Amino acid sequence: MHLIETRNLCYSYRSTDLALNNVNFIAGRKKRIAVIGANGAGKSTLFKHFNGILKPTSGEVLIRGEPITRQNIREVRKFVGIVFQNPDDQIFSPTVEQDVAFGPANLGLDGKTVQHRVDEALRIVGIEDLRSRVPHHLSGGEKKRVSIAGIIAMEPQVMVMDEPTAGLDPQGVSNLIDFINTLPEKYGMTVIISTHHLEIVPEIADEIWIMNRGSVVGKGTAQEVFVQEDLLNSARLQVPVLPRLIRSLQRQGVDIRMGYTYDEVEAALSEKLKGSP
Ligand SMILES: Nc1ncnc2c1ncn2[C@@H]1O[C@H](COP(=O)(O)OP(=O)(O)OP(=O)(O)O)[C@@H](O)[C@H]1O
Ligand SMILES: [Mg+2]
Repeated sequence: MHLIETRNLCYSYRSTDLALNNVNFIAGRKKRIAVIGANGAGKSTLFKHFNGILKPTSGEVLIRGEPITRQNIREVRKFVGIVFQNPDDQIFSPTVEQDVAFGPANLGLDGKTVQHRVDEALRIVGIEDLRSRVPHHLSGGEKKRVSIAGIIAMEPQVMVMDEPTAGLDPQGVSNLIDFINTLPEKYGMTVIISTHHLEIVPEIADEIWIMNRGSVVGKGTAQEVFVQEDLLNSARLQVPVLPRLIRSLQRQGVDIRMGYTYDEVEAALSEKLKGSP
């Protein structure tokens, strides 16, 4: 049984335009999944089906094999936590600390456990010093961190993050990557993220889904997906900078191994340069 499965999922906000067109998406256990696609491809619309914020126009959404119903929606939202693309859709309490505490308190946890989770979440995203601030007076990236902390504190089995790196500074992105990478092994969690930062995708995803105009048009590992330049271009995307650089060198006749992450490319270049006379 899959943690999340959509079957022939179609959704239209209004009129006849399909924001999602027959999407068959699957999320397994302990996976790191990235969904990539140009603006308007349907990523956020898909994510909003994962915990019942949107209901399919047709098709099905199954969570642990079960459709989302009024009876199980609380359980589903405990199981699947979503960090929205726009933090203003998520943040509403008078202080950062109260905002991050809202989710876990709503799960019915005792005060001490809630406090512990809030402290831990604030530490993970590096905003302990903002705990007493008014969320609406924070910077864009600070708000983003608050919204991520709010979901971390709920400890869902599936953590869905819509554009979590948008607006974060380089250190924030780097910390988030490290954190995401600990989740499957350490906590058995599955992480699903969307991002326009394609260069970080090989660092954070075992599985990449490509969307274009409401449909899934490709799927695979970084090695499988980022060699398909035509597919990426037709989905209005680009091969990330590192594999693009290596491929360009290869085309010029340089005998060098392909790499997708910084570490892989550094090793390939170092091996090549040290190997040269
Ligand atoms: N509330 C809404 N009402 C009407 N149409 C909407 C609404 N939200 C999104 N859409 C439309 O649905 C389609 C998919 O939008 P969606 O937000 O899912 O794209 P996305 O892949 O998340 O894009 P981005 O990369 O810009 O976040 C787009 O054509 C968009 O204009
Ligand atoms: Mg979006």
